Amino acid sequence: MLCLSRSLRFSLQRAAPINGTRLISTQGSLPPSSSDTSHRTTSFGFKTVPEEAKESLVKDVFDSVASKYDLMNDATSFGIHRLWKDAFVLGLRPGRKGPMRCVDVAGGTGDIALRILDYARENYADRETSVEVVDINGQMLKAGFRRFKKTMYHNTPQVSFHEANAQDMPSEQFPDNTYDLYTIAFGIRNCTSIPAVLKEAHRVLKPGGTFACLEFSRVNNPLLNLMYDQYSFSIIPLLGTILAGDRESYQYLVESIRKFPPQPEFAEMIREAGFATGADVDGGAWTDLWGGIACIHKGVKL
Ligand SMILES: C[S@@+](CC[C@H](N)C(=O)[O-])C[C@H]1O[C@@H](n2cnc3c(N)ncnc32)[C@H](O)[C@@H]1O
Repeated sequence: MLCLSRSLRFSLQRAAPINGTRLISTQGSLPPSSSDTSHRTTSFGFKTVPEEAKESLVKDVFDSVASKYDLMNDATSFGIHRLWKDAFVLGLRPGRKGPMRCVDVAGGTGDIALRILDYARENYADRETSVEVVDINGQMLKAGFRRFKKTMYHNTPQVSFHEANAQDMPSEQFPDNTYDLYTIAFGIRNCTSIPAVLKEAHRVLKPGGTFACLEFSRVNNPLLNLMYDQYSFSIIPLLGTILAGDRESYQYLVESIRKFPPQPEFAEMIREAGFATGADVDGGAWTDLWGGIACIHKGVKL
């Protein structure tokens, strides 16, 4: 069954039905005590904000963009994000070694989940591979849920939706050593602590399981970088204003890309979390797409 589950461990919100589908609670953690976080700051785009504020600021961004998210992705990238996502899933070849249990974290409207399921079915006649889509934002998940209703995966055990924080996935619902594949696409840069996300990824994957991240990254060619900067900072916020009536969210999305660690630094963080990666070169620990505008990092849980 396609289920949309919402997890609020401590706020104990009552499970509510959505379109006849059960909405269960699981997300959350104890609110941080002021003593642990009062002096810690992080980036929110180019702004520096208290760590504990980032999550709700990011939530506001995705609440605001959820209904237009897929349209805006196509408009701002001229549809190129589809090619990157196709390349990402193609490189993972889900289903090749038999049905897989996958979790797509920061999965938003389910772009990666749909590709994983389609790939396994079209290439290996696999209707048993499953994807649990996890996101902190209920609006994004609802958009994904509506989209999956139009697919053959609706009302099957192949897909489910869960509201939870990538940094603190409730262990009752996402137990240790459970998944063959953990994917996160264009999501990790929005999280307050990248090491906390990687630690959770490592916890929930089976030994030998694959961590795969698709994210915007660093462009090494100076000319391409200049053109990309011009486009990002002038055109994308303008498209946000015209198509979604929301300049600020798109300004944040562009700024957050520039704050994300460069390829070798992120690869080192993946290794520090306990994954094995290839060497620190393009084609090793990571694969650049379009000169590094986007990049795929992979690691295997030891
Ligand atoms: C740019 S969207 C990417 C969605 C989808 N993966 C895709 O590629 O189209 C980023 C997503 O990350 C989610 N997100 C941000 N912080 C998160 C967190 N701490 N835990 C889980 N999801 C988070 C947002 O709600 C949003 O849906």
